[in-house]
Amino acid sequence: MFIRNAWYVAAWADEVADTPLARRICGEPVVLFRDGSGRAAALLDMCCHRGAPLSIGKVTALGIECGYHGLTFDCSGTCVRIPGQERIPERARVRTFPLVEQDGFLWIWMGDASRADQGAIVRYPWHNDAAHWPHRHTMYHIQGAATLMVDNLMDLTHLGYVHGSTIGGNPMTHVEAKMETERTSNGLKFDRWMLNSLPLPTYVKACGFQGRIDRLQRFEYIAPGTILQLSAADEAGAYANGLPDNSKLQFRLFHGLTPETETSCFYFWSTANGYRTDDPAATEQLFSEIAGAFKEDLTVVEAQQARLTELGEDHLVDIATDAARLHMRRIADRLLADDTLARAAE
Ligand code: FES
Ligand SMILES: [Fe+2]
Repeated sequence: MFIRNAWYVAAWADEVADTPLARRICGEPVVLFRDGSGRAAALLDMCCHRGAPLSIGKVTALGIECGYHGLTFDCSGTCVRIPGQERIPERARVRTFPLVEQDGFLWIWMGDASRADQGAIVRYPWHNDAAHWPHRHTMYHIQGAATLMVDNLMDLTHLGYVHGSTIGGNPMTHVEAKMETERTSNGLKFDRWMLNSLPLPTYVKACGFQGRIDRLQRFEYIAPGTILQLSAADEAGAYANGLPDNSKLQFRLFHGLTPETETSCFYFWSTANGYRTDDPAATEQLFSEIAGAFKEDLTVVEAQQARLTELGEDHLVDIATDAARLHMRRIADRLLADDTLARAAE
């Protein structure tokens, strides 16, 4: 079951250029392409003539041309060309999905198009501010449910165990981090304060910390699949009165989890450094450190998914540090129930 009445990242805007991109989203095959004017569109990846996937065709000035008999469809899914035939039947059209290009993303709506409110899309202005937040981005295709990846990001006590050599640090620092959680209308926010803690390898590489540090991780979960993160650190004592405006180290991570199937997802993420902003090596280094750490998450979550698929999840036990994760799941369950009701009403 997927939450369909929601915006998901379908692709990075720069993934869709002059060839069709096939991507299964919420279980449905979708093809993404740009027409001659550069406008991006998302269609069901199935030609209405004989059912070939449109993604094996090509993009022309008119739209996307099926690779089987050459029917061409524009961004609205309307057939605009049938080779050797003047009259185009009215029914010759392919389903389209609302698609919005914004902040470097292509956001897709897989549910009822009449409910797709563009104003509800998460904004991420840091992608448009290369001077203060130079960034890099990528996508991991994960053989694990999107919900397991959101779980992973909602319970950071895994950092010390999964990421000990990179972005983690001492396990007990994470278990004992002071959590401040706030519920929002569509998710939750939490701050994790780790004051007077040992600096971790990634931070030392980034800013050369020598002694102990004050460290903050600020997370915002926006249902169903977006997580915004700010990480900051400075010399121990610097955060005695909360987070100052200009920490020595600060970076932002965007996490977008888009379901592919019930047991696989796309993980769109970016890193943006707010320190050494005029040094491309800093941007590169942060990205490659995080890339390595997220591969560690991928390995754990794929192994977890394999077990859950094999043995089910009826006998799993929740512990105290699952609080944020459980709240997130309740929000997602509520959205899923709303979705199911809306579909039943249709
Ligand atoms: S199947 Fe697409 S043109 Fe025939
Ligand atoms: Fe992780």
